[in-house]
Amino acid sequence: MLAVGVLGSGKGSNAQALVEAIESGRLQARIVCVLSDVENAFILERARRHGIPAEYISAAPFKTKLDGEAEQHYIAALRRHGAEVVALAGFMRMIKRGLLRAFPRGVLNVHPSILPAFPGLEAWKQALAYGVKVTGCTVHFVDEGMDTGPIIVQKSVPVLEDDTPETLHARIQEKEHEAYPLALQWLAEGRIRLEGRVARICSC
Ligand code: GAR
Repeated sequence: MLAVGVLGSGKGSNAQALVEAIESGRLQARIVCVLSDVENAFILERARRHGIPAEYISAAPFKTKLDGEAEQHYIAALRRHGAEVVALAGFMRMIKRGLLRAFPRGVLNVHPSILPAFPGLEAWKQALAYGVKVTGCTVHFVDEGMDTGPIIVQKSVPVLEDDTPETLHARIQEKEHEAYPLALQWLAEGRIRLEGRVARICSC
C-alpha cells in the first residue's frame, strides 16, 4: 500500500481528509508520518489523535523554503518512517531539489486556486481581489517552481457576490478534501503518466 508522508504547517484539514478517505476505503494508502515546521500546528495534534507518528522539525534558519540541513532532516525522517511519496498539505515553504530527488515517485501539493492562476500565498484572496467568477483548487506534482508542476486534478467553485475571504476559502477547501484523496488514489493505482509537463490519467 502506498506509503505517504505528509508535511503541513497549519490546521491540517487536508491531512484529516486523507485520513478519512483511507478509513472509508476511498484511498488505498497509509499515512506513515506527519511532519510540521510549526511546533504547535494543529496538523500534528490531528495526526496523534489517529495514532500517526507526528514530529515538529525546525526548518530554521530559512523562513520561506526547505533547504540545507533542515531539508536533510526532513528527508531522513520521511525515510525513517518509510514514506514513498510526499503530500504537502498546507506546508508553507518552497521545496528544493534535494527533497524532490529523494522522492522520485512524487511530491504532491494542494493549492487553493485553478493554477496557473494565483500561485503563491492566500490564493483565495488573490481571486477575490482580481474579481474572477470561478476559482477552485489544484492538486499537482511539485517541481522547483512556485506552484508550477504538472497538474493532476482540478475542481472549481463559483465566487459569490457576498463572498468574504473566509467563505470562499471554506468552499475551496471542501473541494480540496475531495481532490487530494482522488489524486493520491490515482497515484497509488499507477494511473498517472507524465508526458513532459502534462500528467495523463490512464483509465486502465
Ligand atoms: C489549503 O487551503 C491549501 O490549499 C493551502 O493551505 C491550506 C491548508 O489548509 N496551501 C497553500 O496555499 C500552498 N500554496 P489545511 O491546513 O486545513 O489543510
